[in-house]
Amino acid sequence: MSEDVRELVGAVRTYLQVHGRGRHFATGSWVDPGSGRDGSAGALGGSSGAGDGPDHVPGTAPVAETVTDREFGREDFGSKLETVAPARIEAGDLDQLREVWGECTRCSLAGGRTNLVFGEGAAPADLMFIGEGPGEQEDLQGRPFVGRAGELLTKMIEAMGLSRDLVFIANIVKCRPPGNRDPEPGEVTSCLPVLLAQIRLVRPRVIVSLGRISAQTLLSSGTPIGRLRGRWHCFEGVDLMPTFHPAYLLRSPEKKKEAWQDLQLVMEKLREPHA
Ligand code: URA
Repeated sequence: MSEDVRELVGAVRTYLQVHGRGRHFATGSWVDPGSGRDGSAGALGGSSGAGDGPDHVPGTAPVAETVTDREFGREDFGSKLETVAPARIEAGDLDQLREVWGECTRCSLAGGRTNLVFGEGAAPADLMFIGEGPGEQEDLQGRPFVGRAGELLTKMIEAMGLSRDLVFIANIVKCRPPGNRDPEPGEVTSCLPVLLAQIRLVRPRVIVSLGRISAQTLLSSGTPIGRLRGRWHCFEGVDLMPTFHPAYLLRSPEKKKEAWQDLQLVMEKLREPHA
C-alpha cells in the first residue's frame, strides 16, 4: 500500500474512532411528493424503487430537502480525508478500506441488512457509477446492482463498449433501506465518508449518478432529475453526469433514449485526452 493510500485509510479509521461504528445520527426525512415514501417497493419489487419519474409531473414543485454539507457531515471529516488523493492505487487498497469500514452499525439500516454492499469493480477506473442503495437482491448477495435493475445497468455499460469489471459500481448508502424506501439524510451522512474514500481510491475521470437520490445527494440539490440529467456537473473535482436510474428505465422504457444520450456524452468525455 502506498503512503498516501495508507493515509487515506488511516483517516477513515480515525474518523471511525472519533465517531464510533455505533453512532446513530438523528434522522430527518426527505420531503418529496414523488418519492414513493410509503415504503412500497414499486413496480420492480425486488429492486430499488428509484422514483425518478414523478419529478416530471408538471406543476409538482420539487420540495426535496437540500442535503447541506453540514448534514453530510463534512465538518466531521478529518482534514486528511478531505485532501488525500492517492497517486498510485494498488490491488488490495479497496479491500483495506472495506476492512477498516468493517461491519458498520453507524445508522439504523445496519439492523435490517443481510449484507453490507460495499461496491465492486476496478480501481483505478475511468468510470464510476453511483446508485442509491442496495435492493433486495443486492442485500442478499452483498453485491451492487445484481437484480433486474442491475441487469439493465450491465447492458448499459456493455453498450458503452465497457464491462462491469472495467468500471466501479457503488451506492450512496451501503445497506438496504427497509422496503426500498429512500435513504434518509442521517443514513446518507453516516455512509458518506466511505463513498468519498472510494472515489479517492477509484480516481474516476467521470462519475455517472443513477437516479434522483444519487444526483440530488451528490449535488446537494433539490432539482428534479429530469433537469439535472444530460448536463455536466462536478462532484469532488470529478465530472459528474446524472442520468435516470435503471429501475426507473424498466418502468419507463421510453426514457431509455434520454439515458443513452447521457451515456454518449460520457463516452465522448472519456475519449478526450487526459488533462
Ligand atoms: N438500486 C440501486 O440504487 N443500487 C443497487 O445496488 C441496486 C438497485
